[in-house]
Amino acid sequence: MYLDKISIKSNLKDYDVYFENDSGFVQKLADIENAVFVVDENVWNLHKDKNLRALPVERVIVRPVYEEVKNIDTVCALYEKIMAYSPRKNMNLISIGGGIIQDITGFVASSLYRGINWIFVPTTLLAQVDSCIGAKTSLNFKQFKNLVGTFYAPKEIHIFPEFLQTLHQEDFYSGIGEMAKLHLMAGAEKTREFIAALPGLDKRENAVLSRLTHNCLHIKKSYIEEDEFDTGRRNLLNYGHCFGHAVESATNFAVPHGQAVVLGMMLANKVSVARGVLSPENEAFVLQNVLLPVLKVRPPVLNHDAVLSAMRQDKKNVGKGLALIMLKDNYQMEKIVDMTEAEARSALIDIFGK
Ligand SMILES: NC(=O)c1ccc[n+]([C@@H]2O[C@H](COP(=O)([O-])OP(=O)(O)OC[C@H]3O[C@@H](n4cnc5c(N)ncnc54)[C@H](O)[C@@H]3O)[C@@H](O)[C@H]2O)c1
Ligand SMILES: [Zn+2]
Repeated sequence: MYLDKISIKSNLKDYDVYFENDSGFVQKLADIENAVFVVDENVWNLHKDKNLRALPVERVIVRPVYEEVKNIDTVCALYEKIMAYSPRKNMNLISIGGGIIQDITGFVASSLYRGINWIFVPTTLLAQVDSCIGAKTSLNFKQFKNLVGTFYAPKEIHIFPEFLQTLHQEDFYSGIGEMAKLHLMAGAEKTREFIAALPGLDKRENAVLSRLTHNCLHIKKSYIEEDEFDTGRRNLLNYGHCFGHAVESATNFAVPHGQAVVLGMMLANKVSVARGVLSPENEAFVLQNVLLPVLKVRPPVLNHDAVLSAMRQDKKNVGKGLALIMLKDNYQMEKIVDMTEAEARSALIDIFGK
């Protein structure tokens, strides 16, 4: 039996996130008629004899997962496999894995018969606390990351923290960065709660993971319900991502995404202070108590010109300047589109040195 549920209102169709405290829900998924399962290979190998034991192996498609397979060829291979199992519009596609499995299978679900039933079971921290809601599906095309995609929501999402016990440390850290971001965006009280929960989070205590995941999805829900198609307020969720994406690209993706977002928040806060909208005391508080404790990688050696060049190419820039989401005093958020390269460079020097 699930512990709790969050319902998400969507222009596409409303959907529910269930918080599970045992693997009983897997049996219920296995009992669904006309179901085909697509499972991340690592998750399958690690959980097939325990948490996923109830799945009917003859209807399970196991896929290797890495960024290079998040493309249209994999989608086509899945169309073939799925149609061999169940060539019906009323089939149920059930996918189990992290953000990559979500993006690929979400695209498949949205396009097959112009949309089939889809249930998603996220197994990484990033997918549980962030990507599973919001209804975005994305594929990479050539060198362009997430260039192709659709808006499509699963019918149900099942969050089971036990999956996270087998996650590599690096993937766990990626999720922690997004959790810090969402709690900061929610204000002082949620930020204090996050700070107090950090020791339990580091130990991956299921109760702490469940509570913080719940917070994250509630916070993200408030942004996506208001602006599902990302034309206004939802942009604020890009806090830490303007610099973060550029750091990822300048280091050839050596820094895990969520960790690049942590560095991105540090850099963005420097710009906020320089613009006089975040006091140095508040910046120091957030740095010491939230950002440094969740920064688990050694800051990379960065070529500032490469970061700036990546920032110039950010598709979110609409004006002459660079786009940035800023944290201000009282945990208010603001998007600016006129950050100068000199401001960005000065933040880079503050954090990484010359
Ligand atoms: N659609 C969206 O809204 C959205 C949002 C953010 C990110 N994304 C996308 O998500 C992708 C990143 O997803 P991710 O960080 O969840 O990682 P991932 O799907 O790349 O998985 C990371 C690694 O963890 C393994 N793994 C997954 N679950 C595991 C488990 N329980 N135990 C052990 N290993 C496990 C995978 O096999 C993989 O090797 C990127 O492609 C990104 O673009 C999508
Ligand atoms: Zn992110």
